Amino acid sequence: MKKILFVTSEAHPLIKTGGLADVCGSLPKALSELSQDIKLILPRYQALKITEDIRFLCSVRVDNRNVNILETRLPDSQVTVLLVDYPTYFNFPGNPYVDELGEPWLNNAERFGLFCKIAVEVAMDRAHLNWQPDIVHCNDWQSGLVPALLSLEYEPPKTVFTIHNMAYQGLFPKTAVYDLNIPGRLWHIAGLEFYDMLSFIKGGLVYADFITTVSPSYALEIQTTEFGYGLEGLLATRNASLGGIINGIDTEYWNPETDTYIAQTYSAATLNKKRLNKADVQLKFGLPVNDKVPLFSLIGRLVEQKGIDLLVECLPEMMTMNLQFVLLGSGDKVFEKQLQVLADLYPEKMAIRLGYDEALAHVIEAGADVFLMPSKFEPCGLNQMYSQRYGTIPIVRKTGGLADTVTDTLPETLVIGSASGLVFNEASAGALLEAIKRALILYSVPNIWKKMQVNAMSQDFSWQRSAEQYLALYENL
Ligand code: ADP
Ligand code: GLC
Repeated sequence: MKKILFVTSEAHPLIKTGGLADVCGSLPKALSELSQDIKLILPRYQALKITEDIRFLCSVRVDNRNVNILETRLPDSQVTVLLVDYPTYFNFPGNPYVDELGEPWLNNAERFGLFCKIAVEVAMDRAHLNWQPDIVHCNDWQSGLVPALLSLEYEPPKTVFTIHNMAYQGLFPKTAVYDLNIPGRLWHIAGLEFYDMLSFIKGGLVYADFITTVSPSYALEIQTTEFGYGLEGLLATRNASLGGIINGIDTEYWNPETDTYIAQTYSAATLNKKRLNKADVQLKFGLPVNDKVPLFSLIGRLVEQKGIDLLVECLPEMMTMNLQFVLLGSGDKVFEKQLQVLADLYPEKMAIRLGYDEALAHVIEAGADVFLMPSKFEPCGLNQMYSQRYGTIPIVRKTGGLADTVTDTLPETLVIGSASGLVFNEASAGALLEAIKRALILYSVPNIWKKMQVNAMSQDFSWQRSAEQYLALYENL
């Protein structure tokens, strides 16, 4: 049995802004089900949704600040959650990274710097918890200073750093080095410095014993200039300690047979019932209720990464086709506006909901026929897996985890029973439109479409296998 300290800035259902939370909520659970002793450490944000008992554990002093550590439990699990309680930094409305108006917290370097230092105190068993982890598993830049600071300790635990997204690096002006009291031994080009800025992510990339990313394809992509954001050289030097482990999904929370958010539960054997969910989506979005017209969908952050510009370019032509389109998302105000203009122009065919709505995400996954993910890059992506589990055919661009989890529908993949979606190559509106047209043709042949749905629904995306891969990695270290 390994003792694992799992360091993350978000974890579903406590706090979520994206897929990081889904993974950091479900992977620790899967590891604890493999009998591992795992504690998750998270800042105590005001927006946390705590449902279990919470108690005071201890107080730790770092950088002349007294920080409390509280303890609760991840709902429906044996996973202990340690909360870093420092109200001056975390007790404000907003999300982990931005305030209520969507502006990044001005003191993000201090906030996550302090969080990392407390994680180090716990990792070195200096927080009086009488618990010394064997492994410290860090996630994304917010936890990047942990492997760096641990590298200066005597006999530290082994460290794993998982990259969920290279596009976010936690870069701060050089003054942060002094503000955060970063030891001089870490401040150089082969350390935390990145073009005269303090880089949190480099703390993970340089100092972790092993680096993982969330799909095998993305592990290769980030070693190229296109996806490496200037860190591809560093990653190439760490090639022997870098690998991809594909994310799993929480197959209980995302289960069409038991989902309490959806109008009608169903399975691969009762796929005909899925149309009741389609009607529910059409009603909720104010679109004509019609079982025959194929319903396309998209849920996600409205940012460049997700290929929203390609979608916006395609939509006018899509609106001339026999289909409906619904979208749930929030993000870039320019995209939000462009989408709203189109939705107002085609109220009979397209409707959008701007904002974040967990329940509606389930309703859409259950009711749509097709799910679009034209991402420019996608470290893993979860919605293409949720979609397959709900018999909602994903259209994805061949990149990162999308390439690793969706099998294109071709005569040969239909024969061997693996066809589960549509995959296109080029990041262009033309290529996306071609895939949409292909989907419409396949949709018009009900027995082929049903075969794709059944293939998609029978895929195994559970955490079991991936959690075992992480465990094997911990053991090798
Ligand atoms: P990323 O982490 O890059 O945003 P993922 O595909 O890994 O992308 O995960 C996104 C997660 O966030 C999914 O669980 C998705 O359903 C959810 N999500 C994104 N936007 C919204 C929204 N507006 N409302 C509800 N859920 C959302
Ligand atoms: C990031 C990536 C996404 C991935 C998620 C969880 O947010 O953008 O592709 O699925 O992390 O690993």
